Amino acid sequence: MKMFARTLALVAMFLLPSAAGADDLHRDDQSPGDAEQIARGKASYAMCVGCHGPEGEGQIGVGPRINSANYLATASNELLQRTVTEGRVGTNMIAWGPILQDSGIADVVAFVRSWQSTPGIELNEAPLTGDIATGDKLYGDICATCHGRNGAGYSELGSGTGVGRAAFLSQATDGFLRAIIKNGKDNTPMRPFDENSPVAVANLTDEEIDSIIMYLRKSAW
Ligand code: HEC
Ligand code: HEC
Repeated sequence: MKMFARTLALVAMFLLPSAAGADDLHRDDQSPGDAEQIARGKASYAMCVGCHGPEGEGQIGVGPRINSANYLATASNELLQRTVTEGRVGTNMIAWGPILQDSGIADVVAFVRSWQSTPGIELNEAPLTGDIATGDKLYGDICATCHGRNGAGYSELGSGTGVGRAAFLSQATDGFLRAIIKNGKDNTPMRPFDENSPVAVANLTDEEIDSIIMYLRKSAW
C-alpha cells in the first residue's frame, strides 16, 4: 500500500501541470495574452467562424485550419497579427485592421494562440541555400496539384492556400516556410516533406526545401 501511494505521488508529479510547464509551450515571440484579452478575442472571433470554423478547424477551399498544432507551434504572434491586419490580398481573407483596430487584432490573436497545444518550434532563419531551377521543377512536380501552378491556391481550385502570392510571402519568414514544409500542418492534407519523417509524402532534403522557397520568392506575384 505504501509502495502504491509512493507510485501515485510520482505519477502525479509528472501528470499535474505546473506553472512553469505552461510557459514552456510558447516561444518568446508567441506570447499567450491574458484571460481578458482571450475572452474579448473569443467574442470577435464570431466574425471568423464562417470560414475558419467554431474551433479554427477550417474548411478546405474556404478557410485554412488555424488550430493546427504545427501551425501554431511554428507561427509567431507577428505573423498572426500581420495576417489578420493586412489579410491576404487577392483571397477571401480580407484586411481586418480597419475593422478591429490594433487592440482588437491583439485580442483575436490571443484567442487563436490559446489553442496552441504543442511547444513552439525553433525556426532556422539562416540564409537559403539552393537553386531556383530545382525549386521550380520540384514545386511543379509535387506542390502544384494542391497549391496551383502559380501558387494562387483556392482560386486555382487548389486545396491548399496561396503560397505563391506576394501577400503571403511578405508575411512568412524563411524559417516559418522551412518548418511548415518539413513538418506539414497536422489534420490537413499538408503532409510533412522532411526526408527524415516516416510519414512524409515525398522526402525532400533541406536544400531541396530551400530551393522551393527560393523559387516561390523569385516568382511571387
Ligand atoms: C470569408 C472567409 C474568411 C473570413 C471571414 C476570415 N478568413 Fe482568415 N483566411 C481565409 C482564407 C481564404 C485564408 C487563406 C488565404 C490564402 O493565403 O490563400 C485565410 C487565412 C487566415 C490565416 C492564416 C492561416 C494560414 O494557414 O495561413 C489566419 C491566421 C486567419 N485567416 C485568421 C482569421 C481571423 C482571426 C479572422 C476573423 C477576424 C478571419 N481569418 C476571417 C478566409 C477567411
Ligand atoms: C495533397 C495536397 C498538398 C500538397 C501536395 C502540398 N500541400 Fe501545402 N498545403 C496543403 C493544404 C491543404 C494547406 C493548408 C492547410 C489548411 O487548410 O490549413 C497547405 C499549406 C501549406 C503551407 C502553409 C501556408 C499558410 O498559409 O500558412 C505552405 C507553406 C505549404 N503548404 C507549402 C507546400 C509546398 C512547398 C509543397 C510542395 C513541396 C506543398 N505545400 C505540397 C496541401 C498540400
